[in-house]
Amino acid sequence: MSMLQKARDYERDYFEAYHQERPLLHLTPPVGWMNDPNGLCRYQGRYHLFFQYHPYSTVWGPMHWGHAVSDDLLAWEYLPCALAPDTPADAAGCFSGSAVETENGLMLVYTGVPTPERQTQCMALGNGMDFVKCDQNPVIDPDELPAEYSRQDFRDPKVWKEAEGYRMAVGNRHETRSGAILLLKSADARRWQLCGELDSSQGINGRMWECPDFFPLDGQQVLVVSPQEMQENELFHQGYNAIALIGDFDGQRFNRQLIQPVDQGLDFYAPQTVLSPDGRRLMIGWMENWDYCKKTPRTHPWYGQMSLPREISLRDGRLIQRPAREMERYWQNTVCAEDTLVENAREYPGISGRALDMTLRLSPAEEACHSLTVSLAADEAHETKLICDFIRHEIIFDRRKSGGIPEAYALHRVPVPELDAQCVLRLLLDKESVEIFLNDGERTLSYRIFTPKEAKEIAFSADGSIRVGMTFHTLG
Ligand code: FRU
Repeated sequence: MSMLQKARDYERDYFEAYHQERPLLHLTPPVGWMNDPNGLCRYQGRYHLFFQYHPYSTVWGPMHWGHAVSDDLLAWEYLPCALAPDTPADAAGCFSGSAVETENGLMLVYTGVPTPERQTQCMALGNGMDFVKCDQNPVIDPDELPAEYSRQDFRDPKVWKEAEGYRMAVGNRHETRSGAILLLKSADARRWQLCGELDSSQGINGRMWECPDFFPLDGQQVLVVSPQEMQENELFHQGYNAIALIGDFDGQRFNRQLIQPVDQGLDFYAPQTVLSPDGRRLMIGWMENWDYCKKTPRTHPWYGQMSLPREISLRDGRLIQRPAREMERYWQNTVCAEDTLVENAREYPGISGRALDMTLRLSPAEEACHSLTVSLAADEAHETKLICDFIRHEIIFDRRKSGGIPEAYALHRVPVPELDAQCVLRLLLDKESVEIFLNDGERTLSYRIFTPKEAKEIAFSADGSIRVGMTFHTLG
């Protein structure tokens, strides 16, 4: 039996056998391990999302491409595994990549790893369900690159179509500049030519740059990359971050004007974007962190999940992210509470649960307020706390009682200079994750939790007093 058929039989049998509760609107793998989103696109009227996938265990292993489709990026339907590592060009894994519609069908462009020392770029063509790998694979061999570029760290092609052919942005590690994104062009998507570098770390922003996406947005151009091994500072956390480089692109050169974190929580990586039919750019990331996901609990026969889709835009040259408006179709049991005084710990009637979308509009009360704490996913033994410290201007996300987060990652502090008693917080909780959007998407923070599903209480407390206007929806 072929490796692909083996994976397809395995995922089908497991999926039929296991009916554990999953997140409602976040994609998880049918079985086994998931990392990066791959090939996020629209094809034949639906969204397709592929993903890095190892069906046979809940840890990373020889990479396949899993596959799911959706009409709104929220309710997902699995399709059979799309790629298995079954040819000489990708025998050690089919790593991340992208998808483009061509006149011959849907083209997947991915990193084929023949041996752990080399990474190549490969292609497969298909009808949206079954894909045939190109006979000429690899279509790009790392030895075609100038000597100062890595042969071993050369991955994650993002391909798009232009009037005269195709373009590719792909990650590499330069001898002296470290993380770098290369730009290539091709008339036929088979023979590629290097045009130059779009941008690089210069040794400042991480070591290897993975998973580029590159697209126009609101009159400018955005390069999203995921650097490894970043140093902690007021913008970025230690280790793996997703960052946005915003600037101009004249078709040859990218001129960066601004660098910004995409998400300041610990669990958002390797995002990809797609255009909706009505022209909005939507982004989905992998909601995990390589630095500690090996040490988190395995509570299901699957591991890993994607983020919610976010609508992205630029405001004053900066990236803004909002939960995609498609979310609103899942709102149920709306509760509104205007202007409630929060002092000592209190709960609101009707406000609890593990799948919800809640907006808090803060305003000052007569007394000063030093901090506001929102406690989620709580019972006697558990709670996940969001603390807004208005004196230190920082957000603290406390997962010390969130079901087994390794200690070094359980208490996370994020400097937020603009944080004050008048901010607006939107919190999305979906079983095992929390996504926070501050001030209409100016900042986002995403985190996984592993709290047992029975822990559902929500409470608010303030050090001092503060007024909170609230809109709450359960998701269903
Ligand atoms: C990023 C990444 C990619 C690579 C893939 C392998 O999370 O390391 O660079 O293609 O995961 O699964």
